[in-house]
Amino acid sequence: MPLISDKLPKIWYGGDYNPDQWPREIWQEDLRLFGKAHIDVATLPVFSWALLQPEEDRYDFAWLDDIFDQLAGGGIKVCLATSTAAHPAWMARRYPDILRVDFEGRKRKYGGRHKSCPNSPTYRLYAIRLAEKMAERYAGHDALVAWHISNEFSGYCYCDNCASAFRTWLQKRYGTLEELNRRWYTTFWSHTFYEWEEIVPPNILTEYWQPDKPQFQTIALDYNRFQSESLQECMRLERDAIRRHSPDVAITTNFMHAYKPLDYAAWARDLDVVSWDSYPSNRTHPAEPALWHALMRGLKGGQPFMLMETTPSQVNWQQYCQLKKPGTMRLHNYQAIAHGADTVMFFQLRQSLGASEKFHGAVISHAGHGEARVFREVAALGAELHRLGDKVVDARVEAQVAILFDWENWWAMENTAGPSKDWQYMPQISKYHRALWEQNIPVDLITTETDLMKYQVVVAPSLYLLQPGYASRIEAFVAAGGTFVTTFMSGMVDENDIVVPGGYPGELRRVTGIWVEEFDALYPDERNEIACGSDIPALAGTYEAGLICSVIHAETAKVIGTYTKDFYRGTPALTRNRFGAGTAWYIGADPEPGFVGKLLEHLCTERGIRPLLVTAENVEVTCRSKQGRTYLFVLNHNPAPVRVDLNGAIGTDLLTEKALEGTVEVEGYGVVILETITGNRTS
Ligand code: GLA
Ligand code: ZN
Repeated sequence: MPLISDKLPKIWYGGDYNPDQWPREIWQEDLRLFGKAHIDVATLPVFSWALLQPEEDRYDFAWLDDIFDQLAGGGIKVCLATSTAAHPAWMARRYPDILRVDFEGRKRKYGGRHKSCPNSPTYRLYAIRLAEKMAERYAGHDALVAWHISNEFSGYCYCDNCASAFRTWLQKRYGTLEELNRRWYTTFWSHTFYEWEEIVPPNILTEYWQPDKPQFQTIALDYNRFQSESLQECMRLERDAIRRHSPDVAITTNFMHAYKPLDYAAWARDLDVVSWDSYPSNRTHPAEPALWHALMRGLKGGQPFMLMETTPSQVNWQQYCQLKKPGTMRLHNYQAIAHGADTVMFFQLRQSLGASEKFHGAVISHAGHGEARVFREVAALGAELHRLGDKVVDARVEAQVAILFDWENWWAMENTAGPSKDWQYMPQISKYHRALWEQNIPVDLITTETDLMKYQVVVAPSLYLLQPGYASRIEAFVAAGGTFVTTFMSGMVDENDIVVPGGYPGELRRVTGIWVEEFDALYPDERNEIACGSDIPALAGTYEAGLICSVIHAETAKVIGTYTKDFYRGTPALTRNRFGAGTAWYIGADPEPGFVGKLLEHLCTERGIRPLLVTAENVEVTCRSKQGRTYLFVLNHNPAPVRVDLNGAIGTDLLTEKALEGTVEVEGYGVVILETITGNRTS
């Protein structure tokens, strides 16, 4: 049975729909065009709080009932949003507590969206009430297939309500002020707190000296946690209100992939299904959406996710809003499916006539008919997805390699002062992901909750902050035979960003078999090198490395590569430690991408992990499987056709229904989905 809803056992196709923006007569025309495009799901009413609750004590659902019934009558399912992402103007005027105080300390006024204070009693009361009323009213509607809480929760607030909720949160976390002072290291710069009320939110008026750089990281890190949890609590309260009436319909809220302010790993625990909004531009390298999809898939242990929003063509918010070239909308959406999406949903179904999104791409454009290029492409994809039926629905991506991604580590490392302004988490994650992507080696992005034992190789780039107990889990993984790779600046601090003394990488010292004495930040135009001897022939050679160079002492580890420059030339730059049945690698500096590719290829080969297929550049291959069938996706991100050797795989291309084997041609921006019965692959 499909995970999200058994009412729509196929890849869902549709998107955000805002019919309250146009006259009722148009709805019929919309339905006709939806039919033409095989659209079967509409998300509504994402931003209609002001219409649904025109006055404090009056709710108006009549128009929504009407549109709901019309959609249902036209065979369209509904993903129902709770509409709480933009509060009504009357509410802001009457209850200013709903308005945030921003990072600069300014009290906001009514305007924009996504700006309610998560600790405002008014916001919580009315958001929960609206969610509850909607759930009561629509839970039993046959066309309802999913709940969509609010929209893209985002941002932080620094108001007095948040300040006092922060103190309560801290009391729960630390118990006493003495403990807080100890864990926060407040003897530094005279920060000892004697009363809870002395603690104020860290922002540009208090602890920050630059928008992204606090001077007191322990406080800032807890504020990251606290604000993420505050918004999460708002989401959870709406969820609980919905569940009271609608226990069987999947509940989600739409994420924005690697959105730093919110710890989605924690958030995902509260959701039935992860959904997210993907907006690659024409300049986005295809490995990036692959990473985003893997990150979103990993939040719920590999469960399929919903692609909740993507544009059928241009957006309105990039500096240069280019059209999607013919064929690329289809390709981008198959890429999402290839990585685990079970829905393809657009923002939006009909284009707005006014305000900031009037020039955002839509399925039905301002021209208003079905002859436009974008509509025709959308309709063609709709027909294909219709023909696919439930083929890939709920099929899983199986990866033996994982990259760890931890939001708290992200906050902590980038909050920290020094050692290099260019030391950032995403580029480090991307670099290791890209190396695997280029080799068509399936990779999961995992959270600190994921069981490591499922994997053969686990890569944890710049794992600066170690969660309590995580080092022992890494040790157990390696001892049991796993291959672990970590890099410079790992294992430095505990969960409060306090250094673990006695030699870096702190708790990872045993498993890596090294200790790091100091770390050098290189200027952007400087490079050192890692020279690897012939011990491991696959790695022999000299590679550029920069950013940060760790000065390493090998203890039980074997030195595989050494620096060639500076006063630490000849000292270890790359080490491998045998630990129990496995090995742990430490990469002391930031190497050139070619080296990362070679190292990961070597480690995968050692573990018997092979590329799904060997292909030309920017030809991506992924695999989903279920019930003895595998679906091999071949995605050609190049404008020109390519030939791809199927390496012995034999099967049927689901899109053309042709039998394929040997070497196949994939057209420019083309896609092949090869269905094989497991056991048919000869390699
Ligand atoms: C976000 C929002 C949508 C819309 C799109 C435009 O993803 O969730 O409401 O504004 O951006 O790209
Ligand atoms: Zn607030």
